[in-house]
Amino acid sequence: MPAIVIVGAQWGDEGKGKATDLLGSRVDYVVKFNGGNNAGHTVVIGDEKYALHLLPSGILTPGCTPVIGNGVVIDLGVLFEELDGLEQRGIDTSKLLVSANAHVIADYNRTLDKVTERFLGSRRIGTTGRGIGPTYADKINRIGIRVQDVFDEKILRQKLEGALDLKNQILAKIYNRRAVSVDEILEELLSQSERLRPLVADTALVLHEALGRGETVLLEAGQATLLDVDHGTYPFVTSSSATSGGACTGTGIPPTQIERVISIVKAYTTRVGEGPFPTELLDDHGEFLRKVGMEYGTTTGRPRRCGWFDTVIARYAARVNGVTDFVLTKLDVLTGLDKVPVCVAYDVGGVRYDEMPVNQTDFHHATPIYEELPGWWEDISGARTLEDLPANARAYVNAVEDMAGARISAIGVGPGRHETVVIRDLL
Ligand code: GDP
Ligand code: IMO
Ligand code: MG
Repeated sequence: MPAIVIVGAQWGDEGKGKATDLLGSRVDYVVKFNGGNNAGHTVVIGDEKYALHLLPSGILTPGCTPVIGNGVVIDLGVLFEELDGLEQRGIDTSKLLVSANAHVIADYNRTLDKVTERFLGSRRIGTTGRGIGPTYADKINRIGIRVQDVFDEKILRQKLEGALDLKNQILAKIYNRRAVSVDEILEELLSQSERLRPLVADTALVLHEALGRGETVLLEAGQATLLDVDHGTYPFVTSSSATSGGACTGTGIPPTQIERVISIVKAYTTRVGEGPFPTELLDDHGEFLRKVGMEYGTTTGRPRRCGWFDTVIARYAARVNGVTDFVLTKLDVLTGLDKVPVCVAYDVGGVRYDEMPVNQTDFHHATPIYEELPGWWEDISGARTLEDLPANARAYVNAVEDMAGARISAIGVGPGRHETVVIRDLL
């Protein structure tokens, strides 16, 4: 079995963690390929609830090897905290592998993330404040610190000197903050290096060899299509490639090895942070979705903005990711509504858009054109096959599938691992 990619279709928090966990027992490797501890994946196994930020969801599956790929940015303190937390709960984390080429989030980048947001004022992005953007900026500017650098004090010192020459000017002269000494950052990183050393590997080679043996590799995205730095709602995006193309650059697995692209799409839409959101609901319906769907950020606890399902976004996600299968999640949350509106296109200044407008201003001004579908009242959390769903829920799924540009192969009807309607096998 070749490589399989899981990506989010909307603005994140679609339930990627649950989907990855569901497949976990049948895959050999789960690889995180982008982002860092800005992600928050909640996985519910029986009575236990796990919140993962930096670690791939596959860490919860015995036998599966979790991998942090080269495309990820790593806060080493958070990595060890998360590992300790899982170990205390009896999860074996000893198989974790970390790419030698992944970048490390240094303390000054956490500071810069926060002060930049403050500086932007009303133009802020609403970042998670974890230092993600500045660390990716350093990577592109070629002044980043990589995992392999923390094992060589001389190299690390040289790289930190280079980075801080610039950063300290920015911190002190633009943001009026204290300059940072090379020694304090050096000490922090060196103190973490011993624990890190046994985890580090040439993960691209490890994965290449695993695929050669016919093993299954699942590549798991953080964030989602509309938060992708190229294909998302720029500048209100994260700083990494969260679409399926990022799975290749973020792991070293070539496109020719990817057989399937599974996109997780919520039965309605949510967004955390700033930026345009055509179907956003600022009324009681929005509050209903937030309450019933428990839409509060796993990472920052912020209430998520909520709105109806948007098929323009689903079609766009299908297109830019090459989606082979959608997993429609949280259908249970829509239970109890008289009518369920679905956005089928946008109106922008009297012009109909069936596809995502390429112009950012047009997307900001897009008004949804809705089609109203009849709701259902029956509890669907026990459904395991399509036939178990009430007729109106099935009609909703069929209508969404017709407009979304790819087949729906599974449906989430509750947070638990097995609260899923499986239409066809995902592997
Ligand atoms: P991720 O970032 O894409 O992994 O998603 P999050 O974990 O941030 O947010 C999804 C939330 O919805 C989590 O609390 C999940 O436990 C929960 N969840 C996932 N699938 C379903 C579902 O089908 N129904 C319900 N009710 N909750 C779900
Ligand atoms: P998962 O993997 C939802 C959002 C932030 C902000 C923007 C940039 O759980 O789906 P950043 O800190 O990345 O520079 O912030 O991106 N964001 C997410 N929103 N789910 C996530 O991850 C997110 N990761 C980042 O709220 O608007
Ligand atoms: Mg999340």
